[in-house]
Amino acid sequence: MKVTVVGAGAVGATCADNIARKELCTELVLLDIKEGLAEGKAQDMMQTAALLGFDTKIVGSTNDYSKTAGSDVVVITSGIPRKPGMTREELIGTNAGIVKGVAENILKFSPDAIIIVISNPMDTMTYLALQATGLPKHRIIGMGGTLDSSRFKYQLSQHLGCSPADLNAVVVGGHGDTTMIPLIRLATWNSIPVTQFLSAEQQTQIVNDTMVGGATLTKLIGTSAWYAPGAAGAALVESIVRDQKKLFTCCVSLEGEFGQSDICLGVPVTIGRKGWEKILDCQLNESEQAAFNKSADAVRSMNDVLKTL
Ligand code: 2OP
Repeated sequence: MKVTVVGAGAVGATCADNIARKELCTELVLLDIKEGLAEGKAQDMMQTAALLGFDTKIVGSTNDYSKTAGSDVVVITSGIPRKPGMTREELIGTNAGIVKGVAENILKFSPDAIIIVISNPMDTMTYLALQATGLPKHRIIGMGGTLDSSRFKYQLSQHLGCSPADLNAVVVGGHGDTTMIPLIRLATWNSIPVTQFLSAEQQTQIVNDTMVGGATLTKLIGTSAWYAPGAAGAALVESIVRDQKKLFTCCVSLEGEFGQSDICLGVPVTIGRKGWEKILDCQLNESEQAAFNKSADAVRSMNDVLKTL
């Protein structure tokens, strides 16, 4: 199994580190446009192999896509991260050109790859990758909801005083501060609805804190977060290469599901060797569906910006 991570910044390097530690592939290529960055980080990670006990071979490459040839899975993290006060959407002008170029180069050398998109604005970049490559829809997966759902579980665990691993909770819709929808009504603590244990005020706070999870970290750190985004990317890679068919919220092409078409948006999907395999209908109620439609409208206007670039 061969995996490529494009972009050796904090998110890409963390994703690669998680992939190597879990030995998800025999060969892992880390590629970046900046001279020497990917080679340096690849060597640094290889120098942990003896300490951590993994056999994945990590290869760095400065923009030489021939090294990525024959990849089974490619994770795209390229582009500029947001600075404090910026929205993910403000990155579109710069990142659209970068992501389009990366997707086209990847396709030349790995025509059978499954592509995971992490770059922001993630919903629009996923849509762009689908259009730019013309790949079957099941092979293009946007990571956002996987990260947002993990952040949602973190917030819930803080209030419930429980293990995040005991929680089932999903965030659907877009990967934007105002477009994501943490579905607290459906969240459970080992099958018991979490709403039984939380006041209305606590529920509102958990939902709000989840929605601005990325922005909060950007303010604290001074740039976009990387541990959880990198781990979320690696979790998707794991479900693909091990054909686990795990259920994640991912940004995928909708053709009528959840009442939307011609858009990539976060919904619950199973992830396996063929990419995203099945969309699960989580039976949104009227207000959740209205929020989902509003989220789709916002993402659609962002997708329209692509036509103007
Ligand atoms: C985040 O929310 C990078 O968009 C990513 O942290």
